Amino acid sequence: MISPEQKMDLMISLCKRRGFVFPGSEIYGGFANSWDYGPYGTELKNNIRRAWWGRFVERRGDMVGIETPIVMNPKAWEASGHVQTFTDPLLDCKKCKKRFRADHILPSAGAIPLYDKEQPPPAKRAGKKAVCPACGGELTEPRQFNLMFKTFVGVTEDASSLAYLRPETAGGMFVAWKNVRDTMRKRLPFGIAQIGKAFRNEITPGNFIFRTREFEQMEIEYFVKPEEAPEAFEMWLKEMKSWVEDVLCISPKNVEYVEIQEKDRAFYSARTIDIEYKYPFGQKELYGLANRTDYDLSRHGQASGEDLTWLDPKTSKRILPFVIEPTWGLDRTLLALLCEHLDIDEAPTSDEGNSEPRMVLRLPPMLAPVKAAILPLQKKGGLTEIAEKLTDAIRQEGMMVEYDDSGSIGKRYRRQDEIGTPWCFTIDPESVDDGNATVRDRDTMAQERLAIIDIPAWLQKKLNT
Ligand code: GAP
Repeated sequence: MISPEQKMDLMISLCKRRGFVFPGSEIYGGFANSWDYGPYGTELKNNIRRAWWGRFVERRGDMVGIETPIVMNPKAWEASGHVQTFTDPLLDCKKCKKRFRADHILPSAGAIPLYDKEQPPPAKRAGKKAVCPACGGELTEPRQFNLMFKTFVGVTEDASSLAYLRPETAGGMFVAWKNVRDTMRKRLPFGIAQIGKAFRNEITPGNFIFRTREFEQMEIEYFVKPEEAPEAFEMWLKEMKSWVEDVLCISPKNVEYVEIQEKDRAFYSARTIDIEYKYPFGQKELYGLANRTDYDLSRHGQASGEDLTWLDPKTSKRILPFVIEPTWGLDRTLLALLCEHLDIDEAPTSDEGNSEPRMVLRLPPMLAPVKAAILPLQKKGGLTEIAEKLTDAIRQEGMMVEYDDSGSIGKRYRRQDEIGTPWCFTIDPESVDDGNATVRDRDTMAQERLAIIDIPAWLQKKLNT
């Protein structure tokens, strides 16, 4: 039986060996918790982004998408509360000097809600004295540590040029709300979507790509009349469930929708649900959904002096919309997909002297980095020419395809299984005479003969069903 730790190790090793995720800055000895996405990881991320944008922006009439800068006017982060309170509570070990997040070593204390200064420190809430998990030494009381990365804009490096890398993409959408409201002729309810990088100086990053200092978010700020907020919350909860189950094909038994109690919520949130996935290293957050009330628009309105209200054409009254915020982490989506769909054969056949068990990445075909592999059985007899032509025809249809004519067919199948290619086409000597190829299905292993000329259209059809 493969343990969760072994599963993570095998997955991380496959990611490196097959070009999904590499340790960042590796030739310089690495850089704590930074990762490079290799060619297949990048393709997989692109496919997730595309699926998300198509589903939540292009195919909905009540959404628009924008792109805002990573470095914004720092006043925006003062207004949002991030400068003052986007903090993690940290404890230092007086003996070994290691540093920990208070809520990580005292889970019974609960997470400290962001922006909430009123809560007592977790050690006190838990009613017990914390000790260092590394050496058992005495820990300090928590200190608040701001997670925003600082930078300087322009030639001087002083307080007047201080700016921040955005810790979430959401801020840009609130700041741009006025311009979107005034240009897009939308009626409430409608949402603004953004995909982009966010940065947090996480103190205890870890678990592969689960918590990193640089990551990508796919976020929506959905603006509604205050009285319609509960209904919109339910609508987005359904949408998020459907994304998890129908697009990512993640089993409902591996996901928990955790209603966050009022005492643990950010003070401005009327309702929050954390969507948690059962990773091999434990059940942890995948996505979040919050009713942020009118907190953000009212704070930015006050700080900027701009009128951020919306004119209700029915009543001719100006109102400050509420915001429902569904938020998705792109890197965590990729991680959950790998955890969910990497099938590890518990009783591996020791073929080709490979010491690792047989692994198949059963990704949904729409998300798989490579859709098809073309494998001529031999290099002579005109097979490679047919295979190259077919590869090119599929490529011209806009699908990622690989041509591979070296090594045993078993090894070639195995490589494609490990990168999640749903269909492999073999070109054999008979193909020269009858114009057919054999398609092998990654999941069922079923084989079928198809006319080579029909294969690009066959693939398109498969991907659209
Ligand atoms: N605008 C709301 C917001 O940013 P969040 O729960 O802090 O909420 C949203 O972040 C999502 O971003 C998380 O559910 C997670 O998927 C992802 N995320 C947050 N911090 C992350 C990190 N350090 N590394 C990777 N992903 C992260």
